[in-house]
Amino acid sequence: METLNVALGERAYPIHIGRGILQRSDLLLPYLRQRKVAVVTNTTVAPLYLAAFAAPLRSANIEVIEIVLLDGEQYKDWQNLNRIFDILLERRCERSTTLIALGGGVVGDMTGFAAACYQRGMPFIQVPTTLLSQVDSSVGGKTAINHPRGKNMIGAFYQPKLVLADTDTLNTLPDRELRSGLAEVIKYGLIRDLPFLEWIEANLERVLAREPEALAYIIHRSCQNKAEVVVADEHENGERALLNLGHTFGHAIETGMGYGEWLHGEAVSVGTMMAVEVSVALGWIGSAELARVERLFVRAGLPVFGPALGVERYVDLMQHDKKVVDGNLRLVLLKQLGQAVVSDVASQDEIARAIATRSAHV
Ligand code: NAD
Ligand code: GLY
Repeated sequence: METLNVALGERAYPIHIGRGILQRSDLLLPYLRQRKVAVVTNTTVAPLYLAAFAAPLRSANIEVIEIVLLDGEQYKDWQNLNRIFDILLERRCERSTTLIALGGGVVGDMTGFAAACYQRGMPFIQVPTTLLSQVDSSVGGKTAINHPRGKNMIGAFYQPKLVLADTDTLNTLPDRELRSGLAEVIKYGLIRDLPFLEWIEANLERVLAREPEALAYIIHRSCQNKAEVVVADEHENGERALLNLGHTFGHAIETGMGYGEWLHGEAVSVGTMMAVEVSVALGWIGSAELARVERLFVRAGLPVFGPALGVERYVDLMQHDKKVVDGNLRLVLLKQLGQAVVSDVASQDEIARAIATRSAHV
């Protein structure tokens, strides 16, 4: 097992990454303020991992309440968030009961938001079980639900007490989900870690074959990158926005197509290609770099062309982006591979052309 630290002062927390650590209740017990926890998971993850996770806690005389949500991005909403509150209240959970997220980014984001709100804040722990959640969403304290008009529009910054990433859980992850997670891994290389990008290019087949050492490496290096950014800018007043490379376009795809149609990483892959097209139009990077990024996404089995929403619809959806200031759209763009910036210099025409080039026509 390897451990990283998210050095946020009094809200600092460890990220444990390792094989088989889902059952290491000894890693959790020091963080519990009460001998009672509520585990939020979903109908897919529960039959795979809930019993194995809960058994050692119960053996240690911890009361474990199970909250099993419907599975899917389309359920990341008020109604299902409220199910968590209903059960917490029914089961008389207190402010010092710990809420635990066992699952992917959807469960993690909803559980974190529930923890931020319930009785004005209860402790929570992330136990991510998808590649995407192990490399990105379980770290950094962004929590949210979706609104029909926009992804992750309602939420809070709320840090977990601990992240426990058991890489063995990835053995049951469908290939499409593994590939979706890779979009966020590639993101770190593109925005701030060129040597990591080169490593991914050289070792992608090992990752796709789920070699344990290769998976552990990308999770560790991704979390290292994420932790550095979060520590520098927890509430996204600056550098943290770079973690949103491709997300302004990508969120438009997810919302425009209906939540759950496109996986988050798939939408981010296309969105990144759109951001790269804009960066080329500005003369910051060249067509050789664009081809290099595209090649990597294609090798990872990720889409590089978006759905036919129409340019106007894309642009309309993108106006809800959280980086919009005074109505001005700001995008994460590449100055070079391994160096991203947030910028509002792209013209509406350049943005429209990038969308048109990278999406099917209506
Ligand atoms: P997800 O949570 O929907 O999980 C993907 C699928 O895999 C689901 O069907 C899930 O039930 C299943 N699953 C989970 N673990 C499994 C396992 N070990 N074996 C088999 N199946 C398993 O999707 P995701 O890709 O993990 O997360 C996407 C979400 O994360 C989006 O809502 C996105 O907005 C959010 N996100 C948040 C942040 C953040 O910083 N908070 C960052 C990136 C993405
Ligand atoms: N996934 C973007 C962030 O955590 O800031």
